[in-house]
Amino acid sequence: MVKKRILSGMRPSGRLHLGHAEGVLSNWVKLQDEYECYYEVADFHSLTTDYQNTSGLKNNIKEMVIDWLSCGLDPDKCCMFVQSDVSEHAQLHLLLSMIVPLSWLERCPTYKEQLQQLKDRDISTYGFLGYPVLQAADILLYRADAVPVGEDQLPHLELSREIVRRFNFIYKPKAQIFLEPSALLTHCPKLPGMDGRKMSKSYNNCIYISDSAEVITKKIKQMITDPARIKVNDPGHPDVCSVYGLHKVYTSSSEVKNLTGQCKEGEIGCVACKKNLIQTLLTKMEPIHKKRKEVEKYPIQSILRKAGERAREVACSTMGEVRKTMGI
Ligand code: TRP
Ligand code: SF4
Repeated sequence: MVKKRILSGMRPSGRLHLGHAEGVLSNWVKLQDEYECYYEVADFHSLTTDYQNTSGLKNNIKEMVIDWLSCGLDPDKCCMFVQSDVSEHAQLHLLLSMIVPLSWLERCPTYKEQLQQLKDRDISTYGFLGYPVLQAADILLYRADAVPVGEDQLPHLELSREIVRRFNFIYKPKAQIFLEPSALLTHCPKLPGMDGRKMSKSYNNCIYISDSAEVITKKIKQMITDPARIKVNDPGHPDVCSVYGLHKVYTSSSEVKNLTGQCKEGEIGCVACKKNLIQTLLTKMEPIHKKRKEVEKYPIQSILRKAGERAREVACSTMGEVRKTMGI
């Protein structure tokens, strides 16, 4: 049976944290066996917001790919490539940009949000506005049947679908080369960071996939718990405690139930509670840490180069058809 094809991507922003591991990566690893998978390091996408400072880009790509491999992505099972190694992305982006109405891009919710949020950077650029066109080009070049994404990316996927409809409508009598890609919605558990806010690099509150056992232990020991608990047997409020938030993701639900009762009744101290979390998390991370030691010896550049060549074959064939369809 022919496997269905999926494509997904991540911007290379450097080291990944536990939120990425629990949400996106564990899902990508599972999908490797069921689908023909293309996983892209979206470095062109990084440029849309970080074009001024590119000095760390190459290193960020390497660090992210090491994290991918440590978490179990297998270069023999999936094609993990760097977007800018496949120049067809730029070509298709250009051609699609001819047909995409400005208004579609201006009303995209992520566009408006980011303009507000990234005030420190000048992103009132042509490239940033075209972010979803670049993403559509990624998906369409590989004619992916489905795209595993988190909820935050759904507006972009919807735009890709609209672009397909418009493309097929404009160049109608010719073969329909693109099908509308569907979303494979990924459940991303909410991971609190060390300060209780959502785990995010910009808040500097992350536990990283690459953190050693010692660093993880130290970080958890430093976490703030329920501020109302001063003595060990004060009754606690697990819902305001980010240690509890992490337990909910990593500890079995029956144990979480026990913990909830014990915390509320003041039967367990925060130090002991953290100790349990450290134990659970380190057990969970052990295979990843082990794999990382191996991965550090991998020829990363050559893995990426080979994958880029494989990706280019597919991308070139699609571009051939696009040119024919558009009459250029
Ligand atoms: N925009 C996505 C993100 O920020 C990354 C991405 C780039 C992507 N190209 C893609 C995701 C294609 C899915 C499909 O997370
Ligand atoms: Fe948080 Fe655990 Fe302390 Fe309760 S016992 S406040 S869940 S660290």
